[in-house]
Amino acid sequence: MSSRRFSVLLLCAFVPTAWAVGADAPAFDNGVEIASIIKEAKARATEIAAAKASGAKTKGSSQWISLGASDYGTLNAAAFPLGEPVAKSNRAAVFEMPDEILPLLSQFMHEKFNRCGGFFSHRTRQEAERDLTGPSKAAGGPYTIDQQAWVKPLMSGVKEAELRSTIETMAAYNNRFYTADTGVAAARWLAGRWQSLAGKLPGAKVELVSHDGWAQPSVVLTIPGTENSDEIVVVGGHLDSINGWGSETARAPGADDNASGIAVVTEALRVLANAGFKPKRTVQFMGYAAEEVGLRGSADIASRYQQAGKKVVGVVQYDMTGYKGSPEEIFLLTDNVDADLTAFMGKLIDAYVGVQWSTTECGYACSDHASWTRSGYPSALPFEASFDGMNHALHTTSDTLGTIGGTAEHAVPFAKLAIAFASELAKTGAAGVSAAK
Ligand code: BES
Ligand code: ZN
Repeated sequence: MSSRRFSVLLLCAFVPTAWAVGADAPAFDNGVEIASIIKEAKARATEIAAAKASGAKTKGSSQWISLGASDYGTLNAAAFPLGEPVAKSNRAAVFEMPDEILPLLSQFMHEKFNRCGGFFSHRTRQEAERDLTGPSKAAGGPYTIDQQAWVKPLMSGVKEAELRSTIETMAAYNNRFYTADTGVAAARWLAGRWQSLAGKLPGAKVELVSHDGWAQPSVVLTIPGTENSDEIVVVGGHLDSINGWGSETARAPGADDNASGIAVVTEALRVLANAGFKPKRTVQFMGYAAEEVGLRGSADIASRYQQAGKKVVGVVQYDMTGYKGSPEEIFLLTDNVDADLTAFMGKLIDAYVGVQWSTTECGYACSDHASWTRSGYPSALPFEASFDGMNHALHTTSDTLGTIGGTAEHAVPFAKLAIAFASELAKTGAAGVSAAK
């Protein structure tokens, strides 16, 4: 089994909502397993159709799924029993699919194409059909670098010990699973930590954002802009964790995935707050719930923003920053992101962080940046390693601080980048300050 196959098998969540792009089918084909998955899916699809035809109540409920046009073709060619789409366009096809078929489809994609599901699930048909046309793209930028006097003195204020302390606290919860009490408690702890930092920022507020259907809230800290407060800059990461396919009781420390991303967001906030950040645009720090079960918290927030017509000018997602698995320090993701914003991130690294960086791709909608992209907003994701070189302990009991070397050193440049990103995209009226403690 190649390491890539291993990582993908571990990564994909049981309720897949991945929008797959550009991943070619690998050469291997485990015919026996695939045949049995198709057989099972066909049998269930036939049973459900027969039950429907006879007017009998079918077991369980169904979801509306949207599937990218190329994946629709791929699955059809592979004879996966999708049924007829209720609507389709050049971009996507929409299906009503019984809940119980979804895991089979996910498993099928793993076995045959070595990647995640390639589809998004939606609560309503109307929501699914929005994917037929795709969102209109919001304008980002301007991508200019002119805040040196403010940003440069802040760089030395980023502290490894602070990053480590957030990772240790988050990883100490048994898990941060989206339906577990400990998942709710971890979100509340984060809100409290951010609230203590918000105290240093006049007008800043922290909110727990609840979601329909599960207990864990997302956490959002808002610093209102002093001039263009309707334009929003988002710095975020997911706060949940998962063990394997998901369990409310199994240990899931999620130190790298993704206490390390939350630590980066928190450290950028701490340094900016201590320095008295007064952004011209509104800046929001976000800890998303329920990423590990299909980007659900971020999808909810991004679609609410889209529906309210909010202007989000740039989103950065931090998901796994702690593990040094490749020679370069930072890898900018190239799929499901905005190319201009990603190019700007490279410039920010060169201007302020001064580390080697490269690019990589997930091949599917692997984190919350994809929720923003899908809602038409520009997003970027700086990652810890190349996709192949990433920390393979994710989603296991071994995703601990020890596995990333007992230190948060690798996350330091990511926090510096977050400070530069928020400062340059939101701009500030403040003069340069000396390095914050
Ligand atoms: N942190 C992981 C995976 C990841 C890999 C993110 C590379 C960013 C870059 C993430 O939390 C995860 O497990 N995502 C899911 C996505 C799914 C639930 C839509 C996965 O890969 O299975
Ligand atoms: Zn993650």
